[in-house]
Amino acid sequence: MVTRVAVVGASGRLGSLACTLIEHQPDLALVARLDSRSDLGEMLGADVVLDVTTPGVSPTVVDHAVRAGLKVLVGTSGWSEDRVRTVRTLLQAHPDAGVVVIPNFSLGSVLATHFATIAARYFESIEIVETHHAAKVDSPSGTAVRTAELIGHARAELGPVVAPHTDQRARGQQVASVPIHSLRLQGAVARQDVHFGGTGEVLTLTHETLSPSSYEAGILLGLRAAINTTGLVVGLDALIGLSAPAPVDVRADAGADAGAAAGAAAGAGGDTA
Ligand SMILES: NC(=O)c1ccc[n+]([C@@H]2O[C@H](COP(=O)([O-])OP(=O)(O)OC[C@H]3O[C@@H](n4cnc5c(N)ncnc54)[C@H](OP(=O)(O)O)[C@@H]3O)[C@@H](O)[C@H]2O)c1
Repeated sequence: MVTRVAVVGASGRLGSLACTLIEHQPDLALVARLDSRSDLGEMLGADVVLDVTTPGVSPTVVDHAVRAGLKVLVGTSGWSEDRVRTVRTLLQAHPDAGVVVIPNFSLGSVLATHFATIAARYFESIEIVETHHAAKVDSPSGTAVRTAELIGHARAELGPVVAPHTDQRARGQQVASVPIHSLRLQGAVARQDVHFGGTGEVLTLTHETLSPSSYEAGILLGLRAAINTTGLVVGLDALIGLSAPAPVDVRADAGADAGAAAGAAAGAGGDTA
């Protein structure tokens, strides 16, 4: 069976790449290309809508598709947990629709974020520096927000990170207590460094996108998953079988309640909703 795909944001950088990719897949057919001049009604007739627009436009695209009972793959940035919550509510009234939100289509990036959630249990001092090309309009990046949120989940029983002086602008924007610093540089593609400060040591987890082709495998995985999705799925990690690790309290004074706390949190780390 061939899945009919409408791409919203088809004239953009990611949208153009996705259109070319879809056109080369025997199980996918590109049936509509929408941009800022299009009527969203043009997506009707597709099985799956790929949204790669802008953070301001994306909720309207998703709302329109869900109300039409379509499946949606969202690659656009800006889908914080608050925004995702509104879609979850909308989906309850449209049980045939399905939404897959993937803040980063790159496998390496998703693995780096997963490694960060493991390290998050062992360090109290954590900060993210994300670097993107100068044309990126939003900050912080969707990947940085997602990484910070997952670090927050991993530390659910351990508390917020230790981030002094965050009342000063240069200390970044906090998400789930983790300061995020955004660089927008000519010549850059996309890079994220998660820094963990410990006693006498610093651990840094770096992921760098060298070419937009790194998004291709994740886009195809997301499209093929979306067609069978009802409800909401967030993150490529959920599609490749990674789940957030259970928090472990490594504080010296954690005592006997550490095991109980980790056990209580173990069931709360899933990425699907
Ligand atoms: N998930 C990931 O792995 C990943 C990777 C890279 C980028 N992103 C995110 O994906 C999004 C797109 O990135 P990009 O670099 O491709 O951006 P871009 O080049 O600026 O493209 C934006 C696209 O959105 C369209 N658009 C704007 N307003 C619209 C509207 N009202 N209705 C329909 N379409 C509209 C634009 O159409 P016009 O040409 O007519 O203006 C254009 O096609 C961004 O949020 C970016 O951060 C995600």
